[in-house]
Amino acid sequence: MIVLGIETSCDETAVAVIADDKTIMANLVLSQLEEHKAFGGVVPEIAARAHMDHLDTLIRGAMQDAGINFSDLGGVAATCGPGLIGGVMVGMMAGKAIAAAHNLPFVAVNHLEAHALTPRLTNDLEFPYLLLLVSGGHTQILVAEDVGVYKQLGTTIDDALGECFDKAAKLMGLGHPGGPLVERAAADCKDHKAALEKFPLPVPMKGRKDCNFSFSGLKTAVRQHVENLPAGELAYEDVAALCYAFQESVAEVVRDRCTRAVDEFKEKCHSAGKAALVVSGGVAANKRIRAALQDLAYSKSMDFVAPPLNLCSDNGAMIAWTGIERLKKNMSDKLDVAARPRWPLDPSAEKKSQQG
Ligand code: KG4
Ligand code: ZN
Repeated sequence: MIVLGIETSCDETAVAVIADDKTIMANLVLSQLEEHKAFGGVVPEIAARAHMDHLDTLIRGAMQDAGINFSDLGGVAATCGPGLIGGVMVGMMAGKAIAAAHNLPFVAVNHLEAHALTPRLTNDLEFPYLLLLVSGGHTQILVAEDVGVYKQLGTTIDDALGECFDKAAKLMGLGHPGGPLVERAAADCKDHKAALEKFPLPVPMKGRKDCNFSFSGLKTAVRQHVENLPAGELAYEDVAALCYAFQESVAEVVRDRCTRAVDEFKEKCHSAGKAALVVSGGVAANKRIRAALQDLAYSKSMDFVAPPLNLCSDNGAMIAWTGIERLKKNMSDKLDVAARPRWPLDPSAEKKSQQG
């Protein structure tokens, strides 16, 4: 079975074609960075228009790269939420139109499930696994029990981790998206000890008995450090040192919160066999965070799985793969399915916390 996947939920227009033997036949990602640059963040209306302008060309290009026709497809999958609703509708309607015209099953993909299932595309990974899902809009620890079945162990009570990277970057005068720029600047820090002494930062929620996160205090602490530096343009040496200190603090938060989650996972959900600790979503591209999680996994005798960097941030391959996973279980959707700006992976946790 070959599936076409379409992703338009944020500022990447992405289309991929994947076969059920995990061959990525085409994977095109068009970033809208330039369109949003002047605004220091993603502008929903500009994003939706840019998806409109480029999606057809990208679909044609992906089909050409794959060397197939629509009649060779076994289904069409498109992100139907959560995300910026204008953009989501552009991709969803294109997917539905192709499915209707060629009489193909349509899969309405939850963008978060696509991040959650990506490690099963790139690795031989069995359910259940413990998943840290960290993106621009979401920070969650979940037990992935099966396709469509996720149990949330923890979430953020305020900002998402990617958002925290982006805001910290903005405070330091770096561009958008901030994550990769903070990571690059941190790598330029020459004196790690001096950086940690000059820019002490909190490790929010450390030691707490639940698996939740909080990042707004960390962001505020970065703001205070920036305000205490000499006025005017920041010296790059200070930016690099602050980025280093920030990233170390984040890595410690992630290590601490996930240690708690591993214990809960082992206690309640998975006593037999070798389980895996898995990270996915845009922030999973961060090498310092990957290293912290890898250490944790090994210390707890777990496997560690993280997708390659290009499949961590938003892409069409993860959408097509989710289509394949669902179609294999006969889970397709009607063509009148609606786009959803919010769409929790574990609705019961959503009800309990009213967090997103
Ligand atoms: O999953 P994603 O591409 O889009 C969403 O679904 O939100 O995640 C984007 C987020 C952004 O906040 C970006 O700054 C962050 O992932 N990110 C990183 C890195 N690469 C992307 N954060 C930290 N380190 C990175 N290397
Ligand atoms: Zn994403």
